[in-house]
Amino acid sequence: TALETAFKITRKTDGISAVERERLVADPGFGRAFTDHMAVITYTEGRGWHSPEILPRQPLMLDPAASVLHYAQEIFEGMKAYRAPDGGILLFRPEANARRFQKSAERMAMAQLPEDLFLEAVDQLVTIDQAWVPKPEVGTLYIRPFMIATEAALGVKPSAEFKFIVIACAAGEYFSSDAGAVSVWVEENSVRASRGGTGIAKCGGNYAASLTAQMEGKAHGCHQVLFLDAEERRWLEEMGGMNVMMVFEDGTLVTPPLDTGTILHGITRDSLLTLARDNGLTVKEERYAIDQLYADAAAGRLKEVFACGTAAVVTPIGTFKSGKGDCTIGDGRSTGPVTAKLRQTLCDIQFGRTNDPHDWVKRV
Ligand code: COI
Repeated sequence: TALETAFKITRKTDGISAVERERLVADPGFGRAFTDHMAVITYTEGRGWHSPEILPRQPLMLDPAASVLHYAQEIFEGMKAYRAPDGGILLFRPEANARRFQKSAERMAMAQLPEDLFLEAVDQLVTIDQAWVPKPEVGTLYIRPFMIATEAALGVKPSAEFKFIVIACAAGEYFSSDAGAVSVWVEENSVRASRGGTGIAKCGGNYAASLTAQMEGKAHGCHQVLFLDAEERRWLEEMGGMNVMMVFEDGTLVTPPLDTGTILHGITRDSLLTLARDNGLTVKEERYAIDQLYADAAAGRLKEVFACGTAAVVTPIGTFKSGKGDCTIGDGRSTGPVTAKLRQTLCDIQFGRTNDPHDWVKRV
């Protein structure tokens, strides 16, 4: 394409050895085993997006007054590349990430990156760093596109300059594998998002705001944190970087609705709702109260709860803990049958092991 030739490519020449890379890719953990290159596109007011490049991954040069460092004008995405059975590389609904990135940019008063430029940058990076895509038994290549405000200006105003950057890392499970079903701290004090706030945008500030709750959860022995709504501290919203879903004994799947504007429009969330409907489950996007969760779990009506996201995929939740006490889902350890089936169906499509009825998978 025209854009492809527009990317200036500078290959890394002094990278780690193939042997060292193989060792990293075989046991990558999450978010540390970074690939050799990065994609960068620059925005300047008046000129638009320009200078697309693939470069050896390297530290950024930023003016210490760059807006991102002071006023957090920053957004990001999370997506993955999957190794198909024939060795080829697949992306899952990448245009959904490109669209959501535009929505996040709009909320944060940042420049709109055209979808095709977003997709081309991801494609170019995955192509040049394809040796970093793990075997399917090990994991995936986690791709992190992001945009930062780079104008050196301390006035509080939208930046006139941005950099769009894509980095990637080989990735195994987000939660350490010995976790099994994870335990979740119900945060009753701080909130993640409120109506009219930035909860709907995938901006760094939302994640920074979740960290004290995450620390408190950890102090209570929990892997993750669940946030409640800001007004009543009653309704389930989302977790510290993933959505939440409940499965009831009558085969209904419930997840918090998006119309509050406080919940991230998860692509995994959306895909699972479609797959659940395909599988004959009744899907309800409706508010669900934390007291009800405790009551339904105790009465045996609530059978399974899981977290879902690009990084988390589908992770069963075994226990909730809060100031009000503990609540166990099922036996507190196992993956329930609906959770297991949805995870399997999603992963089979993502890794190209089955047909793809919704045309979600794109070959790189
Ligand atoms: C993702 O799931 O891709 C995220 O961006 C969330 C974070 C927990 C890694």
